Amino acid sequence: SGLALPALAQPRYPDRTITVIVPFAAGGPTDTVARLVAEGMGRSLGGTVVVENVGGAGGTLGAQRTAQARPDGYTVLVHHIGMATIPTLYRRLAYDPVNGFEPVGLITEVPMTLVAKRNIEANNLQELIALVRRQRDRINLANAGVGAASHLCGLLFQSALQVPLTTVPYRGTAPAMNDLVAGTVDLMCDQTTNTTEQIRAGTIRAFALTTENRVSALPDVPTAREAGLPNFEVSVWHGLYAPRNTPREIVSRLSTALQAALSDQNLIRRFNDLGTEPVAQDKATSEAHRAFWQADIARWRPIIQAAGQYAD
Ligand code: MLT
Repeated sequence: SGLALPALAQPRYPDRTITVIVPFAAGGPTDTVARLVAEGMGRSLGGTVVVENVGGAGGTLGAQRTAQARPDGYTVLVHHIGMATIPTLYRRLAYDPVNGFEPVGLITEVPMTLVAKRNIEANNLQELIALVRRQRDRINLANAGVGAASHLCGLLFQSALQVPLTTVPYRGTAPAMNDLVAGTVDLMCDQTTNTTEQIRAGTIRAFALTTENRVSALPDVPTAREAGLPNFEVSVWHGLYAPRNTPREIVSRLSTALQAALSDQNLIRRFNDLGTEPVAQDKATSEAHRAFWQADIARWRPIIQAAGQYAD
């Protein structure tokens, strides 16, 4: 005794900035969720977590960047339901859309709203549907590219009406929203995390929610079923991913930090204001995320195949 053994140098994680890739434009719904989560994770990990927007190609560019990043826990991805639809929607990708990632945990599930430019000539969903049928060659539908939630929701809307519409793709629904507010595009189906404040401000009009129940942040917006359009249901789940081969201990540290972030009162309040809430703690784990993701790939495959609108 008396001689202390030298401690083995354990690399501390994190010892530098962690980057969360958001595969859509800044200021949009995925970005909003990712920034709130990044802030709380940074506090929990005792490090800096920054968001980098890598938008374009329906969310596949940001996903590709993450899949090709060094699997060391310093590059992670917040992505949404597109992780379940892209494996079917895209026949050619420069990365593996399923095996390229380690799921870290689910984050939230966000309702969508069918919204229109403020001066659209319709007072409710039935009038909007009649207008779309009448003016199918003139009405256009904004989205964030093939693979975006807005694209998927738009597909469901067009197939519910049996009316094909011209679509206008953006790098995210934040820039699409600018054009909707300006009135240069007519319609969009987008997440409440991006539409709630605009609907409340009256800069756009909301016609239906795509969930089974109304949301308290938008008490006056009917569900699609209530408004007479059953089978128009979709909500947008988000998850956190690391590149494949990220060490298990690091994935587990990230999951713990995600759980801490999701239990933060400020995040919960902000999510609620925007029509959503964080998932239960036991869903913010790698195992729960993997199971949910795989089931959702299988769920959407036949629906996408029936719609027959692929990326290539
Ligand atoms: C975004 O963050 O811009 C959206 O999630 C895009 C979309 O999927 O519709």
